[in-house]
Amino acid sequence: MITFNSVTKTFEDHTVAVNDVSLTIEKGNLVTLIGPSGCGKTTTMKMINKLIPITSGTIKIDGKDISEENDVELRRNIGYVIQRIGLLPHMTIEENVSLVPRLKGWKKESYEKRVDELLDLVGLEPNLYKKRYPLELSGGQQQRVGVIRALAGEPPIILMDEPFSALDPISREQLQDELKSLQKSIQKTIVFVTHDMDEALKVADEIVVMKDGGIQQIASPIDLIQHPANDFVRSFIGEERVNQASNNKKEYLASSIMKPLVQNQHLTEVPKLSQDTSLQEVARVILLSQSDAVILCDQAGQPIGLIEKNHLLHELAGIPEEV
Ligand SMILES: Nc1ncnc2c1ncn2[C@@H]1O[C@H](COP(=O)(O)OP(=O)(O)OP(=O)(O)O)[C@@H](O)[C@H]1O
Ligand SMILES: [Mg+2]
Repeated sequence: MITFNSVTKTFEDHTVAVNDVSLTIEKGNLVTLIGPSGCGKTTTMKMINKLIPITSGTIKIDGKDISEENDVELRRNIGYVIQRIGLLPHMTIEENVSLVPRLKGWKKESYEKRVDELLDLVGLEPNLYKKRYPLELSGGQQQRVGVIRALAGEPPIILMDEPFSALDPISREQLQDELKSLQKSIQKTIVFVTHDMDEALKVADEIVVMKDGGIQQIASPIDLIQHPANDFVRSFIGEERVNQASNNKKEYLASSIMKPLVQNQHLTEVPKLSQDTSLQEVARVILLSQSDAVILCDQAGQPIGLIEKNHLLHELAGIPEEV
């Protein structure tokens, strides 16, 4: 777990890059930092591995204040993919990727195997690429190597600063998928900076929206698009996505499929639910109560409509009822 407690960074020229940020990043979560250029994303990230010293406040990793840790030790346990690739030009791809495992004292067979696995993972044929130097690769290929280099030493924390920005859309989506499944299977804590809301919505467990060095909102992707905290967040997500989310939400409400009540309908044994109940909840109530229908009520508790079990099943299955 990484905790920021009232962290501020003021540079020598008085630029306040990060202003009183408090944030908890749970172990095993993938958190994205998103916001306009210059809002303090990279600075926030570099303070975690002490590439930038903080001005005030504290950052703790698993309860330990990082200011008390040895910088080199700390960085060995934090993988880092920087915004502009940062491969070492005089080392081959193999040497670049195996750098941290070698520093950690892994055996030759283990790190050689690991290099091959990781190159395969990002679609670079090991025998073709591992003896090359970074400048003998395209920009996108170098970026892939930058990503796997951060994973190589199996650090518990990985910082990724716009890691996929130089990739074509297809490779980008592929790597987003890989990253997501990798993170699920190996439970790494990942802090991921991006400009791209689609990318954030796709990969994040939690999204931190920043502006002018401060946090505007912290929420899961679903919560963020359904409940943007303010106009800035709303415009950053894009009006279209917010509207889409609210339409989707309406479609999932029980009231979207209810039928009007017919007078004198016999309704005594039928469960009553609010019209804002989700379709899933209606299905759950019908299953548990073994009734053939539910009644939906308005806010005053007055019955306004009916959903029959058969009708619900048809709706959920997407098969129209025979008239
Ligand atoms: N060494 C420095 N000295 C002075 N100001 C700096 C320094 N590094 C960054 N800044 C300023 O701090 C602010 C935050 O910069 P940062 O790099 O964290 O932004 P960012 O959100 O990562 O932006 P981008 O999306 O463009 O990468 C900016 O106003 C930047 O100009
Ligand atoms: Mg940046």
